[in-house]
Amino acid sequence: MKTHTLIMPLDMHLHLRDGVMLETVAPLSAYSLSGALVMPNLVPPVTSKEDVKAYKERIMAAVPNDYFEPYMTLFYKNYDKAFLEDVAEEILAVKLYPDGATTNSDGGVKDFDIEAMRETLEAMSDLGIPLCVHGETAGFVMDRESEFMSIYELLAKNFPDLKIIMEHITTKDAVEMLDKYDNLYATITVHHLLLTLDDVIGGMMMPHHFCKPIAKRPEDLDALLNVALEAHPKVMFGSDSAPHPQNKKEASHCAAGVFTAPIALQLLCEIFDQYDKLDNLQAFVSDNAQSIYGICPEFKEVTLVQKEFVVPEKYGNVVPMYAGSAIGWSIESVE
Ligand code: DOR
Ligand code: ZN
Repeated sequence: MKTHTLIMPLDMHLHLRDGVMLETVAPLSAYSLSGALVMPNLVPPVTSKEDVKAYKERIMAAVPNDYFEPYMTLFYKNYDKAFLEDVAEEILAVKLYPDGATTNSDGGVKDFDIEAMRETLEAMSDLGIPLCVHGETAGFVMDRESEFMSIYELLAKNFPDLKIIMEHITTKDAVEMLDKYDNLYATITVHHLLLTLDDVIGGMMMPHHFCKPIAKRPEDLDALLNVALEAHPKVMFGSDSAPHPQNKKEASHCAAGVFTAPIALQLLCEIFDQYDKLDNLQAFVSDNAQSIYGICPEFKEVTLVQKEFVVPEKYGNVVPMYAGSAIGWSIESVE
């Protein structure tokens, strides 16, 4: 049976939530990953050094071992330099949400007024703190990410030394932006390497495939697959695994978010193997992120095997992507 070993896998965009949900989901990621970039969109969001430290402690308390590093983020606001200097050692990045763009993004940026943001972004640039961005406008749902490209350009041009990560990209337009500015990078989820809008609403409506940004067209999927499978050095894996309780997903007003944490590495192996690109997976799930963020994660070796894995119906009260279906690869061992 074919096997494949990954060293120090990282998930550079992960929602761990808090409380009982944190206790349910954190061990699933901590099991197979060396570390993950943890999103700050709690209610209320993570906006102070005390918030970051306390949240990190709650995460560490929820994971059964020490071989997992939660890389922390702060929710973007117009912070001053003294504040950022003080918090810098506790965080790996700052995450910017446009106000109201997605789950728990209230209080995000209302207006991309570069002058109003200059002090914060220059300070981040000086301190070497990357800016992670949820890049969607409030426009028509299929165009939100493409419309945001002009904002990425504005940020990239005005702050050429600031590392800007286009989070969970879903379009050909975003892929094309990568090579236009040295300081633009991107994360790609596993579900956006599998789904188009057809898999969300093209047949029966699939709430567990619904997320923001929504999955796009076949040509967008192809563009994402191209850069991921080649492990373009400016792209890294970020699952955007976003757990919601079953009753919030299978509901009118279905919450946005796809829960992939327990199956992400298996699905990535399946995809990369299908295209005969398994040799590039290490760069996509770890090496690129290490270079982009300048991090040295805890050693961990995860061996996957091409053996059917039937995805559990639920983890606690969270339904994962592909619940009840078989996927082609399983985790064999973690050392
Ligand atoms: O689908 C999403 N869910 N997209 C996001 O950007 C946030 C996330 C969440 O926190 O549930
Ligand atoms: Zn997210």
